[in-house]
Amino acid sequence: PSWQLVLTAAGSGTRLGAGIPKALVEIAGKPLLTWAFERVAGAPGLEKIVVTAPETDLPAFQACLPDNYPHPCTFVAGGDTRAASVQAGLKALKAQLAADHAATSNDHANFDSRVLVHDAARTWCPPEVFATVASSLTDQVRAVIPALPVVDTIKTIRIAEDGEWVETTPARDLLRAVQTPQGFWLNQVLALGQSPEATSASVTDEASLYEAHGIGVKLVAGSPSALKITNPEDLEWLSREIAGNPN
Ligand code: CTP
Ligand code: MG
Repeated sequence: PSWQLVLTAAGSGTRLGAGIPKALVEIAGKPLLTWAFERVAGAPGLEKIVVTAPETDLPAFQACLPDNYPHPCTFVAGGDTRAASVQAGLKALKAQLAADHAATSNDHANFDSRVLVHDAARTWCPPEVFATVASSLTDQVRAVIPALPVVDTIKTIRIAEDGEWVETTPARDLLRAVQTPQGFWLNQVLALGQSPEATSASVTDEASLYEAHGIGVKLVAGSPSALKITNPEDLEWLSREIAGNPN
């Protein structure tokens, strides 16, 4: 099936500490954003890309798009939070699809599209993960997220005056570490972004909005290669991954 991509890249990369936006940090001679573009280009079904970029760096982000890139790509200013950036990207995407639809069709019936929301910081996510997420979205399956089993034992805690104390130990076989791309239907993820729950601090990804509304979120297999570049040592990992997969 066909799908659109919102690529979030408007973060500042505080933990990476490079002094420039994370997506512009170069590895093996190219910015992370350029690697992300190249990596996703071959994923089957991809149509358009909307990138969220820091408002003050739009030209530098546009310059990261490879020449003769096979997909139309636009850049929009992100917001103060990832959630705000995602909504800005989704709105821009909706406006583009509405314009396309008006140009090619006389019927003004509702139209919809699969949309994958992906962090540019998960630069090396394999194309197959995008394809699996996109093809898992159906009329019944409204939200799809890639995930991996967790290897560590995870504790929930309570924070007290004398430090942190264990509260519970959830069964590890029922825990998953969640990645991106997260897949949705565009009209619904836009609508949920307008709901009161969307501003809650506990909603750290779009899938949580579906959970808050009692809408099922399906898990598919994620990939160790979709690691999020967060800290400086992650760049060394990425340069080894790239060296092992020249394209
Ligand atoms: N992001 C975004 N808009 C924001 C914040 C984050 O589009 N206001 C994007 C980032 O560019 C990144 C993804 O969301 O691709 C995940 O965020 P994270 O890894 O936290 O990146 P940063 O926020 O840039 O890093 P840090 O938290 O260390 O500052
Ligand atoms: Mg952040």
